[in-house]
Amino acid sequence: MKTPLVFLLLAVATLTAHAQTVPPAGPAAITASSGRCGVCHPAERVQFEKSRHAPEGVRCVSCHGGNDRSLDAGAAHGAGFRGRPARQDIPALCATCHSDEGRMRPYNLPVDQYALYQTSGHGQRLARGDRQVAVCSDCHGAHEILAPHDPASSVNQLNIPQTCGRCHGSRAMPGAREHQDVLKKYQSSVHARALFEQGNLRAPTCVSCHGVHGANPPNVGDVDKVCGQCHTAERRYYTSGGHAVARGGRRPECASCHEAHGVQAARPERLASSCAVCHAGDARRLDLGRRLWTEYRTAAAEVDKAAALVAKADAIPIQTEDYHARIEEAHTYLREALPAAHSVQPEVVAGFTTRARAVGEEVQKELEGKFANLRQHRYVLIAFWFYVLLTLFVLKRFRDQAARNR
Ligand code: HEC
Ligand code: HEC
Ligand code: HEC
Ligand code: HEC
Ligand code: HEC
Ligand code: HEC
Ligand code: HEC
Ligand code: HEC
Ligand code: HEC
Repeated sequence: MKTPLVFLLLAVATLTAHAQTVPPAGPAAITASSGRCGVCHPAERVQFEKSRHAPEGVRCVSCHGGNDRSLDAGAAHGAGFRGRPARQDIPALCATCHSDEGRMRPYNLPVDQYALYQTSGHGQRLARGDRQVAVCSDCHGAHEILAPHDPASSVNQLNIPQTCGRCHGSRAMPGAREHQDVLKKYQSSVHARALFEQGNLRAPTCVSCHGVHGANPPNVGDVDKVCGQCHTAERRYYTSGGHAVARGGRRPECASCHEAHGVQAARPERLASSCAVCHAGDARRLDLGRRLWTEYRTAAAEVDKAAALVAKADAIPIQTEDYHARIEEAHTYLREALPAAHSVQPEVVAGFTTRARAVGEEVQKELEGKFANLRQHRYVLIAFWFYVLLTLFVLKRFRDQAARNR
């Protein structure tokens, strides 16, 4: 009588223990896209349900194969089951749909990612057996894939540097690749500050200069085109000048003088000081650099002096609206002088600095005139009051005398 009871208790105990290892198969665990796979793989299911894929008919079995109607691991992982895709197979796996024109047309999505990927530094190395390069799921995730415009997406504009930086940051790559701390340099750049501190969405991230799926370093000779997407004026002057002509196969490109990743804000004195980096001992070219800087510096000094006078006039106050507009005009000429310096021709720079200087000098002259008038005005006023007080004083003396005489 005792033995069956013990067996019964044991059976109940095993059943409850079993119920704890297999997660409950409630309606939330079984969904159209994950079927019964999600019962045993809740972490993947939860990530997947938030993705762009889940509502669009993509299912666990689309990528992994197997049978999602079975709760038996053997059957679920049965015929056609591919398991965890190997890294080298992932691009082709994603491409089964993303290179399929018919499948992507309704969404108006391009179908070129896989083709571009194969041309990229990543894709070419993967084909040669390098498993450390990025595959689709390193940048997009495997289950939590979102559209790029979603702020939570790993490939959203603001998250791209960190996504690439997981591998292109310090010590992220083993061995000889370690020194390439591209992320840190980028983060220190004027570009990253414009994007992250000033919210300037026109500033570049990694993919603006490298391409998205075809990521490659720009070829020698192409850097000016890459930077010129945004810095059109600098490129125009650069192309028109001596630096764009290769001599003996050598010519400086934008990144030779600015760096590719650590681009810093403009310091105009570099117009003179930076030439010696490549032309040390070449008196003619060093002199050209000094002339570029002198043109800029003297014009900037005149504009600064004029601006200081306008500020002084504001404090008095004198009517200065027109002068503010002219100082702004002078600054515009000065701003155009820096792109023009990329021609390495002082005459081209002078085209702008002469105008800036002229406006600065004019404003100074006119305001000096007004200040002189004002001083004259003041002397006349002082003389006038002196005369009035003197007259009052004399009148009072006369009255007092008259009173005493009476
Ligand atoms: C009854 C529970 C159960 C079900 C149902 C189930 N799995 Fe699994 N699955 C497991 C367990 C446990 C492991 C880990 C042990 C192993 O590697 O076999 C696993 C491992 C995996 C792996 C990793 C294999 C590897 O190569 O590392 C993948 C991928 C996977 N399952 C996908 C699926 C998919 C897709 C489905 C639905 C078609 C599914 N599973 C259904 C229990 C289940
Ligand atoms: C768009 C294709 C795709 C879909 C859909 C997909 N997976 Fe995966 N899954 C992958 C890839 C790719 C990997 C390998 C990730 C890696 O190596 O970084 C993976 C890995 C896994 C692993 C192994 C995780 C590990 O850490 O070893 C499991 C388990 C798994 N998936 C389960 C699921 C389940 C369950 C679903 C449905 C809810 C699902 N997957 C839907 C592509 C997919
Ligand atoms: C079974 C087909 C299929 C497979 C396999 C597949 N996708 Fe998709 N993918 C889709 C569909 C359908 C959409 C929905 C398109 C949409 O909503 O714009 C989509 C959307 C996306 C999006 C969002 C695009 C956007 O701008 O909305 C990305 C990113 C993406 N997939 C990446 C991947 C990656 C990475 C893989 C491989 C790990 C992969 N896909 C595998 C079918 C698939
Ligand atoms: C090195 C990182 C990286 C790799 C590898 C990568 N992608 Fe992308 N992908 C991105 C970035 C970044 C974007 C967002 C681009 C943008 O905003 O213009 C993107 C966008 C997309 C989109 C949306 C396109 C659109 O116009 O909306 C799809 C679909 C996509 N990728 C699929 C894939 C597939 C498939 C693979 C593998 C063959 C892959 N990606 C490999 C980084 C990557
Ligand atoms: C999973 C890690 C990983 C991620 C994520 C990654 N890369 Fe890479 N990338 C590599 C590896 C590894 C190399 C090869 C480096 C080498 O051999 O020196 C490489 C090489 C490159 C190269 C040079 C190619 C050449 O031919 O010299 C560029 C450019 C590049 N990656 C850009 C990017 C960009 C942009 C992103 C983000 C959108 C990114 N990578 C994300 C691992 C990654
Ligand atoms: C403003 C344009 C620009 C941006 C932004 C940019 N790169 Fe580059 N990158 C270049 C240029 C140009 C080169 C060519 C090498 C050179 O001239 O120094 C390069 C080279 C590379 C290389 C080749 C290895 C090397 O150091 O020479 C890798 C890898 C790379 N970039 C990754 C990245 C990553 C990751 C990001 C984002 C964190 C990024 N780049 C942002 C322009 C850019
Ligand atoms: C021979 C060296 C050199 C080359 C080549 C060069 N620059 Fe410059 N660049 C300078 C100097 C010097 C300045 C002035 C001060 C500074 O930036 O520190 C400057 C200033 C700038 C500025 C900030 C001032 C402004 O114009 O608004 C930008 C932007 C710029 N360069 C972009 C480029 C681009 C894009 C290219 C390639 C088409 C390029 N540079 C090629 C040396 C160079
Ligand atoms: C996608 C557009 C884009 C690309 C590509 C780009 N830049 Fe910029 N750059 C910007 C923006 C936006 C700023 C910030 C302008 C500001 O805040 O005044 C900037 C600022 C600069 C500055 C500082 C200007 C100043 O007045 O202080 C320099 C120098 C510069 N970039 C050089 C480069 C070089 C060199 C390249 C190529 C290797 C490059 N940029 C590629 C958009 C771009
Ligand atoms: C990153 C290196 C580098 C920097 C910095 C640099 N140059 Fe050059 N420059 C070159 C190269 C390379 C050539 C073409 C080969 C040659 O003629 O020596 C060249 C050619 C020239 C030429 C055209 C040939 C001629 O004499 O007509 C002029 C002018 C010139 N540089 C002036 C300057 C001035 C001025 C500066 C400073 C603003 C400067 N360079 C900064 C590398 C540089």
